[in-house]
Amino acid sequence: MKTIQLNIEKALGVITQTQVSAFEPKVKNAMEMLHKGTGKGSNFTGWLHLPSSIKEPELADIEKTAAKLRKCKVVVVIGIGGSYLGTKAVVDAINHSFDWLQVKRDNPVLLYAGHHISEDYLAELCETLDDKKFGIINISKSGTTTEPAIAFRILKKLLEKNIGKREAKENIVAVTDKTRGALRRLADQKGYGTFDIPDNVGGRFSVLTPVGLLPLAVAGINIRDLVKGAVDMEKATGENVPFAENIASVYAATRNALYETGKKIEILANFHPKMHYVGEWWKQLYGESEGKDGKGIFPASVDLTTDLHSMGQWIQDGERIIFETVISVENPEHKITVPTDKEDLDGLNYLKGKRVDRVNKKAELGTQMAHVDGGVPNIKITLPRLNAYYIGQLFYFFEKSCGISGYILGVNPFDQPGVEAYKKNMFKLLDKPE
Ligand code: PA5
Repeated sequence: MKTIQLNIEKALGVITQTQVSAFEPKVKNAMEMLHKGTGKGSNFTGWLHLPSSIKEPELADIEKTAAKLRKCKVVVVIGIGGSYLGTKAVVDAINHSFDWLQVKRDNPVLLYAGHHISEDYLAELCETLDDKKFGIINISKSGTTTEPAIAFRILKKLLEKNIGKREAKENIVAVTDKTRGALRRLADQKGYGTFDIPDNVGGRFSVLTPVGLLPLAVAGINIRDLVKGAVDMEKATGENVPFAENIASVYAATRNALYETGKKIEILANFHPKMHYVGEWWKQLYGESEGKDGKGIFPASVDLTTDLHSMGQWIQDGERIIFETVISVENPEHKITVPTDKEDLDGLNYLKGKRVDRVNKKAELGTQMAHVDGGVPNIKITLPRLNAYYIGQLFYFFEKSCGISGYILGVNPFDQPGVEAYKKNMFKLLDKPE
């Protein structure tokens, strides 16, 4: 089986190979801190060997609950940050873009709630689900996060009104801490089905726990392929894989070398709208892991070629503090060509019979050349295909590299103290009792 590829050639110029290689001892040190558990936040490194430690009965158990929830036409995934982004990223990347419009549907529609506090969104969701039977997967590691708690209270009431308390209970599953938090208490008291989130896996690293695996199985994603991809990448980026062959090490070294030369923003670019939420997931992973102690690369993302018509100008000509990491997909899942046209009024006949993906690939190459010429170093990650197996590889690769990169930077990549600041103010403004 192929693995995803990393190519840093087009970043060399602004930095040199020697500068990247100079990070080898730091990478080695970071790798050791991760694997020996001697670094800051080491009690949250359970994701490191998570893929290879997932056992068959766990997957079977998840699939069994998923099969029950799949009897609903709609399942609402409640969660915020790491408790929903991984699911949204995988579902959008793999499932049919217009799945929800298909007359003959194989999978329930997944809707999302609890990832903000918009009253209009919640009211419109309730309007849409009124009088309907639907499923709820309520996900919160801490079990105390305000956004999902509000959404759950509202949607649970609606479901109970729609189908009665007893049946509602059968359609609600909670994914939360084994023992702690309000959601655990509530789920145990009400008798909802539950899945545990391991203590040593933080939210943004939790996509391969039931946090991601349960809703993904409900959405019809092959979670075994996803896990297999991650297992293979766990091996490919292991502690003993030499620096130059270890793509997690090289990516971490390259981005830190670029950061040292003043490249403060990394833009993750994709050429498929299906990958928009992969960018959102990645932004949380790197933003929350590295942005602290007055340090850290700012993670941004763009969807191309769409955003070349909006952000393209800035990327090409704006302040030279950015570098770009492009996720390229080698082979699309479908085939469509540009049709011929006798009149050729649009002047497109020079492309007749050509695959749309060929045009997209030339746009990708042209963009890379233009950006590199414009002083934007370019890192390229190539996925052979956009499927569960390669997304599993990609996610683990990013997680491993993030852990290494955070330790190189000298921060604790596994906490997020800054997230508390807005909560403190909000609770005070809301007169929340102590
Ligand atoms: O990475 C993290 O730990 C956080 O961003 C969480 O994912 C997010 O705050 C949601 O937390 P919880 O799952 O506890 O509701």
